[in-house]
Amino acid sequence: MILVLDFGSQYNQLITRRIREFGVYSELHSHRLTAETIKMMNPKGIILSGGPHSVYDENSFRCDKEIFDLGIPVLGICYGMQLMTQHFGGNVRRAQDREYGKADIQLATSSVLFKETPNTQTVWMSHGDKVIEPPAGFAIDATSTSTPVAAFSNPEKDLYGVQFHPEVRNTEYGNHLLKQFVFDVCGASGDWTMENFVDQEVEKIQAKVGDKKVLCALSGGVDSSVVAALIHKAIGDQLTCIFVDHGLLRKNEGDMVMETFRDGFQMNIIRVDAEERFLSKLRGVSDPEQKRKIIGNEFIYVFDDEAEKLKDIDFLAQGTLYTDIVESGTETAQTIKSHHNVGGLPENMQFELLEPLNTLFKDEVRALGIELGVPEEVVWRQPFPGPGLGIRVLGEVTEEKIEIVRESDAILREEVKHAGLERDIWQYFTVLPDIRSVGVMGDTRTYDYTIGIRAVTSIDGMTSDWARIPWEVLEKISTRIVNEVDHINRVVYDITSKPPATIEWE
Ligand code: XMP
Repeated sequence: MILVLDFGSQYNQLITRRIREFGVYSELHSHRLTAETIKMMNPKGIILSGGPHSVYDENSFRCDKEIFDLGIPVLGICYGMQLMTQHFGGNVRRAQDREYGKADIQLATSSVLFKETPNTQTVWMSHGDKVIEPPAGFAIDATSTSTPVAAFSNPEKDLYGVQFHPEVRNTEYGNHLLKQFVFDVCGASGDWTMENFVDQEVEKIQAKVGDKKVLCALSGGVDSSVVAALIHKAIGDQLTCIFVDHGLLRKNEGDMVMETFRDGFQMNIIRVDAEERFLSKLRGVSDPEQKRKIIGNEFIYVFDDEAEKLKDIDFLAQGTLYTDIVESGTETAQTIKSHHNVGGLPENMQFELLEPLNTLFKDEVRALGIELGVPEEVVWRQPFPGPGLGIRVLGEVTEEKIEIVRESDAILREEVKHAGLERDIWQYFTVLPDIRSVGVMGDTRTYDYTIGIRAVTSIDGMTSDWARIPWEVLEKISTRIVNEVDHINRVVYDITSKPPATIEWE
């Protein structure tokens, strides 16, 4: 394992990612980890990340000084390099301006990190302070016009520092440099795969859970499905899943969840058919925010009611991902005993959280799902919001309108799949605005609803563009919806990006 200590740079996750891409397991942890803990974690190498501070700031992030005495190779990147410099008695100059962007460096030695790369190479700089004199015993490995010490090393002690960011793609030989550190200096083997991740995690879960019981809220989404499959592999029947069907799911979705997990994986699943409960709470409500709140709260009440019937549950499993943890800025090692994450379980229920995906990125969770035998449709399922079709019927939700959205959505999905566009379009669905218009079918005048098609391309849902679905595919979808779904006489295509629109209509 390669340990990355986090000093707050925006690129930190990238370091971990790159290393995992080499087949070497890597984790990002707080800079506050003690040398003692690190010793127990037994990493093959440590990377000190960049960060926004100056080593001269009073409250700047520090690490336990003893990590330099552990005999574990260390690579300091940017701030991490400056921290090493200060620790070993070199000289860091406080800067007035930041150097930001591409720069050329010239190699000065034949440091192992730059082995077989050209003498002049482009790197990505993003720093204020800089090292102007390396500590005693360190050689200057590279320089640039603005940075006299762009890289340094003390190979006897396995200590290395670079002022630039090798994890950023704009650093021409960045991947090479990281590989050299990870393989050549640290001697990592590069045999980390999903298969051995599963073995590792299964063992960890078994050790943690023992003969106790675990509860999991299964929604059929990627994260909760993979977490359930993984825990089930580890502890079998000690896991119980609660699947709340709020009646706002897509066509056949509830049955598919049951087929996949109860019949396929032979899991203990309690399916709660709560459609009536949700619909009655939503009756007469048309404000989007209020609808969301009602659905969210009701979900928790239903889950609580079911959970309370179960006895002796000690753990609550959650599909928290690495990005959730890193982005929310919490310490990585999350051992809090809390039920607040699920938003209000009964006060007398205390669970310990089990979050075995919290070291993985989304694409790794998908790979893990495949490894565990979770079907592709689940693993590659497009994002689907918690409030489900409830926010795709605009205004008041009725059974009839839910049915219209459900049927039209099924047609859209079928045709997108048929056209082979499933993986190209990030999310696609239909919405039912609360408008009716005049049409003519056969020789008869109609006065019926309009369906909106929303299909977007996106990386993470934060911004998006409308998908350029070929006209012929749109034509087929439109024809089928009007012909096959009752009360629809018009189909429109949403051609707005986000921003200014959002992906969902409510
Ligand atoms: P918007 O509509 O804000 O949506 O552009 C961005 C992404 O988030 C999804 N979304 C939700 N997901 N609970 C969720 O789990 C929600 O309440 C929710 N609202 C929106 C949306 O489908 C899109 O992928």
